[in-house]
Amino acid sequence: MKHLLDTQALAHRDALAILDTAEEMTAVSSREVKKLPTLRGRTVVNLFFEDSTRTRISFEAAAKRLSADVMNFSAKGSSVSKGESLKDTVQTLDAMGADAIVIRHSASGAAAQLAASDWTDAAVVNAGDGTHEHPTQALLDALTLRRGWSRAHGENPRGRNLAGMRVLIVGDIVHSRVARSNVWLLRTLGAEVHLAAPATLLPYGAETWPVTIHYSLDEALREAPDAVMMLRVQAERMGGAFFPTAAEYTRRWGLTDERLALVEQLRLGATDSPALILHPGPMNRGVEISAAAADSPQSRILDQVAHGVAVRMAVLHLLLSQRQPDGSLDE
Ligand code: CP
Repeated sequence: MKHLLDTQALAHRDALAILDTAEEMTAVSSREVKKLPTLRGRTVVNLFFEDSTRTRISFEAAAKRLSADVMNFSAKGSSVSKGESLKDTVQTLDAMGADAIVIRHSASGAAAQLAASDWTDAAVVNAGDGTHEHPTQALLDALTLRRGWSRAHGENPRGRNLAGMRVLIVGDIVHSRVARSNVWLLRTLGAEVHLAAPATLLPYGAETWPVTIHYSLDEALREAPDAVMMLRVQAERMGGAFFPTAAEYTRRWGLTDERLALVEQLRLGATDSPALILHPGPMNRGVEISAAAADSPQSRILDQVAHGVAVRMAVLHLLLSQRQPDGSLDE
């Protein structure tokens, strides 16, 4: 693996290697072990052209816990406002020494363009490109699902797929790079993927994806999913046209207190373990998810954040430990 650009092309063995390495890294990310020396002398550049809390800070924490140096670039306040191009920005940071570049950009394909360019020899990690993909988010979601599933079944998570697990992804699919990365990765890991969304928030072509689509959330919940992943309504990408109001969206598509009770009741009929509740964040509390659902015992939202550090440590470790400082890969 030279770069991590998406999950659609991520091989099954590479996905499992990242998840299993992340299992090892959870001890460091939970601070049972303070730091590993693995990436001493290496530099990770966080190149963020869009806002972020979780992804940027967890990549920084991940790099530091592996003893790498970190350079943080945020487009806001940089020479991008004077018209500097992506190429010149990358070449400037590369000249200061970059072994890995973690890039978030509003343009779908920006990470792939960087990886294909001769602007840098660094390993490229996609931290979210437009509405295309957010692979490390899907990997941390998979780690969270695999740990939750294994705990409920008294199994060791290492080496496991997600075969037999039914995952429901709900809401604003059309704007969601998280949903796309999850669809591909969950299928690669053998899970059964369901989407529930209004037709207006499903992308053209979604019917060709390896998923079951529901146009009613209540109907989808009746299938007793093992995990429900609520998506943020990305109002900033809707040009002011919210579905038609936030209250109407919540009534039909929100994980309300009533729907949370319905999920619990349906699961009790089918299995002992409650459905896991996930959300990639940031949340619109009271819109796509109620405060009670977000803070419920079955919520894994803060586990997702913690697993983000472990997964990003695993990705940086796997990409950089097999790479020479000149960018060439070890045999
Ligand atoms: N989930 C996610 O990408 O969050 P941030 O935008 O805060 O990084």
